[in-house]
Order: sequence, then C-alpha cells, then structure tokens
Amino acid sequence: MKSTGFSRRSFFAASAALGGSALLASKAVQADAKPAMAKVLYGPPPGVAKLNANENPYGPSPAALKAMAEATSSGAYYVRDSSQMLRDMIAEKHGLTRDHVMLSSGSSGVLTYMALASAQNGSILGPDLFWDTTAMMGTRNSDFGIKRLAKRPDLAIDLAAMEQALGDDVAMVHVTNPNNPTGSALEAQALRKFCVKASASTMVLVDEAYNELTDNPDASTMVPLVKEGRNVAVARTFSKIFGLAGMRVGYLIAKPEILENIGQYGLGDYGLNQAGVAGAIASYGDEAFIAFSKAKILEGREMIAAAIKENGLSALPSQTNFMFVNLGAGDAEKFRAAMAARNVLIRGIYRDYTNWSRVSMGKIEDVKRYVDALPYAMEAIT
Ligand SMILES: Cc1ncc(COP(=O)(O)O)c(C=O)c1O
Repeated sequence: MKSTGFSRRSFFAASAALGGSALLASKAVQADAKPAMAKVLYGPPPGVAKLNANENPYGPSPAALKAMAEATSSGAYYVRDSSQMLRDMIAEKHGLTRDHVMLSSGSSGVLTYMALASAQNGSILGPDLFWDTTAMMGTRNSDFGIKRLAKRPDLAIDLAAMEQALGDDVAMVHVTNPNNPTGSALEAQALRKFCVKASASTMVLVDEAYNELTDNPDASTMVPLVKEGRNVAVARTFSKIFGLAGMRVGYLIAKPEILENIGQYGLGDYGLNQAGVAGAIASYGDEAFIAFSKAKILEGREMIAAAIKENGLSALPSQTNFMFVNLGAGDAEKFRAAMAARNVLIRGIYRDYTNWSRVSMGKIEDVKRYVDALPYAMEAIT
C-alpha cells in the first residue's frame, strides 16, 4: 500500500496553529471593523492593482449581483433545482442534454475529477507549459505522472509532437486552449483534427476557460466533438469573462458515460453554493455584459502592448485576459518584486521560464498603474 504521508501529530499541530492565527485574525478584524475592511477581506486593498490571477474585476454583472443577493436569502437550503436549471441552459446552448453537463466548484473541480480518473490508468500528456494545477492533483497519488512535450522556443503547443507522444502509457491528453500562461490560441481546425485522431485511442480534455475571450469563440470551441460522440471533454468556467471567480462555478461538457465515471471523484451538488449558481444563471446569456467585459479587456491589452513595445519588450499574441511578456535578459521574479513595490501585483517565474512575466488585465486604472510602473521595474532588473 502507498504511504499517505499523513501524520496525525503533524496534522493536529498544523490545525492548532491555523486555528490560533484565524482567531487572532478575526480579533484584529473585530478591533478594526471599519466598512473598508470588507473590501480588503474579499478583494485587493484600495490602491493595489491585482493583475496576478486572470480575474475580471468588472464582474459580477449587475444582473448577477441581484440574483446572488436573492439566492443568498435562501442559503439555508442545499442546491438542487437551480443547478439543474443551469445545466439545462448550458446544454440548450450547445444542442445537448442535461446529462452532458457536470457542474463543479469552479472548473478546477471537474478538471481535477478528470485528472483523478485518468491517473488511475496512465499518464496525462500535456505541453511543457500549461495550467497544470489539476493534472498535478490527479497524478499526486498515482503511479503515473504528467508526460510533458519538449519546450519550444515560441512556447506554442506542438500538435504534431503531441500526436507522436500518444501511446499506451497515456490515459488522457490535456490541452488548454487558449493556453495559460502563454495566452496563445491554437488554430481551431488543426486542434479539431488532432482531437478527432487522439480521441480514437485516448481521452482528450480541452480546457476552454478563456474561450469567450478568443477572437471567435464559437469557431474555437471543441464542444461540437462532444456532440459527435467522441472521447472529448470540454471544461468551461464562470470565473473569467463573467467575473465570478470568487463564486466558484465551472462545468464540463462530455458524453454522459464520461461524466458518470468521473462523478465518483466529485461531490455533485454538494460542491455548489446557491449564490454562485444564481450568479452563473443570471450571467450566462448576458451578451451586453460579455461584450462590455471583452471590450475593457481588449482596451487593457492594447495599452500593455503599446507600453511594452515602448520599453523595448515583446509579448506573445494573446486571446485571453492576460499577456505573457518576454523580459529579454530580465528576471521575472525580480520584475514581480519591483512591480509589487509599486502596488502592482503580477506573476513571478514559471518553472524554468525565468524571463517570462504574466500580467492579467484589470480595471483600466489598474492597467495604467502597470504601464506607469513599467519603466521603474525595468530599471530594477537591468
Ligand atoms: C486555463 C485555466 N483553467 C482553469 C482554471 C480554473 O479556474 P476556476 O476553477 O476558477 O474555474 C484557470 C484559472 O486560472 C485557468 O487558467
């Protein structure tokens, strides 16, 4: 039997310490209970540009806020009818049935269930750099790991190399499109061809967290392959364009038998909350809010593209609400620290990608803070 690495004593010591600090924190909050405190608890403090987690600070939409307030008043009751309604809405949009849609707490939930199920049987094949948090959750206690493709100079996902890497050892292919942290999207026709071929012998998971932000969302999605009955599962989320990251709703679209299989690793409706589901229902068809958010994100991307050019840098093409900036000889961790010193929060180094720096779009005034801080941060790293 595998060791769980779980020691009772260290668990209790850790939880006692945690309990203590939580108590102290709550006392501090009570002692200093000013109205502004709520903002600090639930989001960035005023004056801080939080550009490090690909959130959409223009959300939640007005309709979502109203629906969430209403749902919170029924927070005494477990989720049931509302989640079925949301599944029906998603299914209807894609011409599928409720049984093709599984909800979870953020798309991290369904992505993790997919990883847990596949890691029973083999490794997860992915590019060198992708949002691998949930793949790692699946392989952590498995005999199998993540099989990564070789790093490419342009950081693109090499579908030909991926096809070559398919084999009996692979239980699932994981493609994030557009990718995170690169922001780049694959050409839809090429990805479709790859998915058709790969899904004949293995499971293909396509994470489309940023689909709504692509140049052509309907043409980019792989959902039609689910409709064709293939072994393709598509993950989506309400965390990005809909501005509901803190409300934790995501979903997977796949054949009912795939969802039944991964369901054994999930919590079903027990993993959902009334307010989150209400916010998702109110946001789903809100084309005006989607267009508004997308316009703000594109405006921010243009501002950052111009600023990095002015400072002698470049970035990968992005179809998301973030950009991956090439710092040349600069160190991304030092760059992050220099930006943080000016109240601009961005990401530091990803593995051995030491000169690549990811910045998320935020409110326009926060993007401006990044633009203004850029020359100073550059000076700090050169
Ligand atoms: C590509 C990708 N997929 C999934 C997620 C998970 O988001 P959530 O669990 O909030 O849906 C993220 C979060 O940043 C992401 O970048």
